Amino acid sequence: MLSTRSLFEEIRANDEAFRLLAGTASQNELQGGWENERIAALTSDPTLAAKILRHGDDENKHGRLFAAFLRRRGLVAADIPEHANYCMLLERRGIGLSHARLREERPLSTDEIILYLAHSRVTEQRAAEQVAQMLDCFRDDPELKRGLAMVADDEVNHLSYCHEELLRFRELGHGVLIERTLKRYAMAEIQATRDVSLAFVETIAGILHWPAWKRRLLSLGAQAIYFYERWIGWRRMVRLAPPERPNALGPVQAAG
Ligand SMILES: [Fe+2]
Ligand SMILES: [Fe+2]
Repeated sequence: MLSTRSLFEEIRANDEAFRLLAGTASQNELQGGWENERIAALTSDPTLAAKILRHGDDENKHGRLFAAFLRRRGLVAADIPEHANYCMLLERRGIGLSHARLREERPLSTDEIILYLAHSRVTEQRAAEQVAQMLDCFRDDPELKRGLAMVADDEVNHLSYCHEELLRFRELGHGVLIERTLKRYAMAEIQATRDVSLAFVETIAGILHWPAWKRRLLSLGAQAIYFYERWIGWRRMVRLAPPERPNALGPVQAAG
């Protein structure tokens, strides 16, 4: 039977396919780590900068963890094919702050901070869902389960933090920019995810010698998800609600 779990099983059982899955995850996490470090360095508000830095530390930790999954199997990360590079596709679609901007030393404006937070709100939603799915599929593997549970827990923190900070900026009168940006970013992210999924299916199909019908079925599945998200699913990515975990990335409050 063709289920998400059976597909992940197939990928885990093949060195080349696992290199692509864990290598892509590792490189995306490290990319997020670098971006957050740079954004923290350009953020004038020290309280917010500390939270962004912690976010970056978490992403770097996730990147190292996925690399460790590979190392334990004697593997190294596969290079991400350019048309399957999620971070690059997002930047090309104008989501978030460009790398050129992050390499400057000029502090970020409030509007740029809001763009960064909207980018995080949308991409952390995706990350939280994808890691939760991986955790569910690999729950019978103690080592993967332990690592992925830690990442999944962190991603809930990151999502909570995005809700909290965007609500704070909305209170400060930036509601129109936040709403407009979230919708634009969600639509672009959905397209980038579709493109990455199609590229991933093509590459994995080649590695695992999938028959044409299986490749076609999975490509159709990626397109179906895209159409669903374009009409209905995008709403979950732009909604702002009181955070599930308040002050998730803030300093630990002293007891008493
Ligand atoms: Fe992460
Ligand atoms: Fe994250």
